[in-house]
Amino acid sequence: MSLIDVKNLKVEFETADGIVSAVNNVNFSMDEGKILAIVGESGSGKSQTVFGMTGLLDHNGSATGSVKFEGKEILNLSNQKLNQIRAEKIAMIFQDPMTSLNPYVRVSEQMTEVLIHHQGVSKSDALKQSISMLDAVRIPDASNRIRMYPHEFSGGMRQRVMIAMSLLCHPKLLIADEPTTALDVTVQAQIMKLLADLQKDFGMSIILITHDLGVVAGSSDDMLVMYGGEIMEIGKTENIYASPTHPYTQGLMSAVPRLDDSEERLVTIPGNPPNMMKAPEGCPFAPRCNYSIDKCNSESPILVKASNDDHFRACHVSKEKIL
Ligand SMILES: Nc1ncnc2c1ncn2[C@@H]1O[C@H](COP(=O)(O)OP(=O)(O)OP(=O)(O)O)[C@@H](O)[C@H]1O
Ligand SMILES: [Mg+2]
Repeated sequence: MSLIDVKNLKVEFETADGIVSAVNNVNFSMDEGKILAIVGESGSGKSQTVFGMTGLLDHNGSATGSVKFEGKEILNLSNQKLNQIRAEKIAMIFQDPMTSLNPYVRVSEQMTEVLIHHQGVSKSDALKQSISMLDAVRIPDASNRIRMYPHEFSGGMRQRVMIAMSLLCHPKLLIADEPTTALDVTVQAQIMKLLADLQKDFGMSIILITHDLGVVAGSSDDMLVMYGGEIMEIGKTENIYASPTHPYTQGLMSAVPRLDDSEERLVTIPGNPPNMMKAPEGCPFAPRCNYSIDKCNSESPILVKASNDDHFRACHVSKEKIL
């Protein structure tokens, strides 16, 4: 059984100007103990996909389709039930840890509160568990540092605190939405390594959202490439890296600055992301795609097998033409 099974997920927002289709018919499933990366440019629908799945959409948003977690439907459950799931089974961390940490309350209090309230753990046990979780995320001198305030930690250490907090209840799934974007490159690499280690230590699964393909290689098992609210390509990370079969994935890859490049180079894909106000009739990427044919503007491509290994692509142009 998959840990999570998403079918025909759609997310729409009602706005004064009309309906915004942020996520269109997204389908994927995820096995236990895996790291799935969701990648795509800003506005491609990465965050709204996971917000829709976990009931965290803005008040003007709504989600339809099906999201099964451990075999049970969780889409659009009551707030109370979703709160419980998010407290016990699906944890989330965000780009800026300060949005989730209270700067004026000691880390010890913020961490132990989680355990005391959600798991009925005694105060002294909660402190012990919190210190050991700070150890687990490699915060040196955790037993003393736990008494500090969030603002006394560096950005990277704060993100570690956030990760520790999110793991206190031993979630089955950790969703990390751009967890390293605000950090410098060296610290980014450390946090990615930490997440991979924690995944193994705790046997959980991770959905890692990022617009930076550079952090995905080597730190995820599978990847899902999104554009215009749709899945362009999905498969094992190493396969997609070895041979991206979608023009959009290829574009993203060539936009990644190479480590051996001495010059700061960032090639971006020409053109602008689509207007999500009206879902395109064809492929959302068609207007920016070098390979597009007539059909791309009128017919939405569905995901079809790209190779033998659970690797799928949504593109009308044959794979041989673009490789
Ligand atoms: N409350 C809202 N009302 C209207 N549109 C919204 C709302 N929230 C998000 N959107 C739109 O949904 C689309 C998808 O947004 P999403 O947050 O998923 O992007 P993203 O891929 O996570 O991008 P980023 O990398 O910038 O975080 C965007 O066009 C965004 O403007
Ligand atoms: Mg986002």
